[in-house]
Amino acid sequence: MSIKEQSIKKEYSQYRWQTNSDEIFTEEMKLFTLNAKDTTYALAALESGHLAHVYYGKHIEDDDLSYLIRLGENPYTPKVNKRDMGTFMDTTPFEYPCHGIGDYREPCFMIMDEDGMSSCDLRYVSHKIYKGKPQIVQPDIVTLPATFADENEAETLEITCVDKHSGIEAVLIYTAFNDLDVITRSVRLVNKGERAVNIRRVMSMGIDFDSDQYDFITLNGSWARERIMERSPLHHGKQGIDSVKGESSHQNNPFIALVSHNADEDMGEAYGFNLVYSGNFFAQAEVTQHKKTRVVMGINHFDFNWLLEPGEVFAAPEAVMVYSSQGIGNMSRTFHDLYRQHLIRGEYKDKRRPILINNWEATYFNFDTDKLISIAKQASELGIEMLVMDDGWFGHRDSDNSSLGDWFVYESKIKGGLKYLVDEVNKLGMKFGIWFEPEMISPDSELFKKHPEWAIQIQGMDMTQSREQYVLDYSNKEVRDCIYGMMKKILDSANIEYIKWDMNRQLTEVGSTTLPANRQRELWHRYVLGVYDVMNRLTTDYPHILLENCSGGGARFDAGMLYYSPQIWTSDDTDAIERLKIQHGTSICYPASAMGAHVSDCPNHTVGRSTPFATRGHVAMVGTFGYELDVTRIPENDRNMIPAQVEEFKKYNPLIRTGDQYRIGNVFEDNMWDAWMFVAKDKSEALFTFVQVLGRPNYRSRRIKLKGLDPDAKYLSSATGEVHSGSALMNAGINVSVHGDFTSTIISFTRI
Ligand code: DGJ
Repeated sequence: MSIKEQSIKKEYSQYRWQTNSDEIFTEEMKLFTLNAKDTTYALAALESGHLAHVYYGKHIEDDDLSYLIRLGENPYTPKVNKRDMGTFMDTTPFEYPCHGIGDYREPCFMIMDEDGMSSCDLRYVSHKIYKGKPQIVQPDIVTLPATFADENEAETLEITCVDKHSGIEAVLIYTAFNDLDVITRSVRLVNKGERAVNIRRVMSMGIDFDSDQYDFITLNGSWARERIMERSPLHHGKQGIDSVKGESSHQNNPFIALVSHNADEDMGEAYGFNLVYSGNFFAQAEVTQHKKTRVVMGINHFDFNWLLEPGEVFAAPEAVMVYSSQGIGNMSRTFHDLYRQHLIRGEYKDKRRPILINNWEATYFNFDTDKLISIAKQASELGIEMLVMDDGWFGHRDSDNSSLGDWFVYESKIKGGLKYLVDEVNKLGMKFGIWFEPEMISPDSELFKKHPEWAIQIQGMDMTQSREQYVLDYSNKEVRDCIYGMMKKILDSANIEYIKWDMNRQLTEVGSTTLPANRQRELWHRYVLGVYDVMNRLTTDYPHILLENCSGGGARFDAGMLYYSPQIWTSDDTDAIERLKIQHGTSICYPASAMGAHVSDCPNHTVGRSTPFATRGHVAMVGTFGYELDVTRIPENDRNMIPAQVEEFKKYNPLIRTGDQYRIGNVFEDNMWDAWMFVAKDKSEALFTFVQVLGRPNYRSRRIKLKGLDPDAKYLSSATGEVHSGSALMNAGINVSVHGDFTSTIISFTRI
């Protein structure tokens, strides 16, 4: 059984340093022990109803970890030591701390009632344990994205707590996965009181670690530099990341990890936390006065408020927690397995994605039917399987200054109409994909002329433009219905098999023309729920369409989006060398099967660097492979390499998509090279990729140790034709020889 509940009665002697008295008291508590594969997580509902955190880490066989609770140690004695309740509140490790009752560390929960009071005190009242995993439902709006598991795969504990003063009930939901080191958490609030309550803050999880001896890992960046991994030792006080932009953002990804100081890819402890959410988030580690660490993660409370009327429900998104006792690499592989098996859905979940050619970097806005057909013609001859028509096919859009919201075909550009174009592409044996930016509205659009009130805005304030566009108010169902209706017409008009859903600006003047004043601060979250609603309709009505998310590159590369789209455009930076860092950072939490990666033209449009075509291919292969160039105009030598590249991708994609990823090199630490491997789950084959960033005179060949193989098996190397044991390949290594800057090689290993 993976979740166990015990009633425990313990005797403690109450240490009172003032009197030295040894008074004995008994404490009855409920101890909950969750086991997920090799992980144990324990918490206790004390007699007082406080929920204490007991343990999180490597699997422990012992049934009873209640000795870890420091009851009896002054001042951890809520039952008998009322005079020190304040100290108890500020020092006890808690599961879901509230604001205003003596715990001055970062709270998980805060309200404001009709009297303007913000303190609250959630205490245990009941619990239930059951097999499987519940959905997270925000009534009347949408089911939130979340990992899923059936009755044989996971078990769930729901602990119901109540704040007597306000009548708010908080159900803390924990799910432990049987075969993965994963525990998920979320919170459901119900207003059981008689008066409305404002929810000012509702984190999805909180944990109090008993130590501060960890490094803090985050994935940060900016446009074209997303999810660059950063690692630094925890220090006293608060360190954290967030988004206030209305999306998960280029700047910070909703992922953090705490790892032991000695942790590397292969050893040490790692705790990873990822929020399954695509809007404003908050994630923080706080080292407190006694050198303990509190971690919290959830929707960003900044500028957030949610009015909960009596009887209403609020569902907080899911936080995923992964524990690894075998380093950061193992933590990543657990996230990858979880997301590939229990988050990503749809027909392409376990399928190779079509090799696409996207016309964005090839033509930008300067294309028409003939140009697209000429690209498709050449591409089809080279083995490319799908043409994606990017931005510029609708309204009267010839640059980024118009037409968003006018989702009808720009007939003078798409001459002959969309169906004609799609049919022509299909005749070449290729699929057809199309770009939308459904959340946006251009001031220069028919939609804006008709419905200026549909843009997010504060009446009487100037509206800030970004890329000459505004954001639609997706909290308004009428807006969602209208946009989705237009998209449907397009999708029903031709054989469209792929959609790129883009989002190219962040939110400003966050106000809605339809929400009442006391619900305006809900807009940040209602916007995200509205986006989920439309994605939900789209994936339900068009299960055959492959959806790829995108946000000005990779500003919404998050687990929320993966629930709808099995792949996400990783970054607008398509330079192979820049991508080493971006893809390395992304792989810390997200699987290769989800990373949109294309071979693009040189000099690279973002950084101006020229790299060999082969290297661009090797780097793009670690994702959903495709091309982003004018295939009719690139150098002939490069073009001639495409058929072989396509075959190589087809050959290795099953392994890359489903295998275990091992990071070997680290461009963050060594500018000279990077390397990684994918190993089949049954260890029968492996693919090794090496990229030399800069050549060095005496670095003609490097000895590199492989990872993840079966030490006792023999493997045939595609580079040398020689056979070596897994043990030799992993302990002694292979000699890798490439020459020149930005060069690369791939080597496959087959078990014989
Ligand atoms: C941003 C995306 O990341 C690009 O790939 C492209 O689709 C442009 N938007 C189009 O406007």
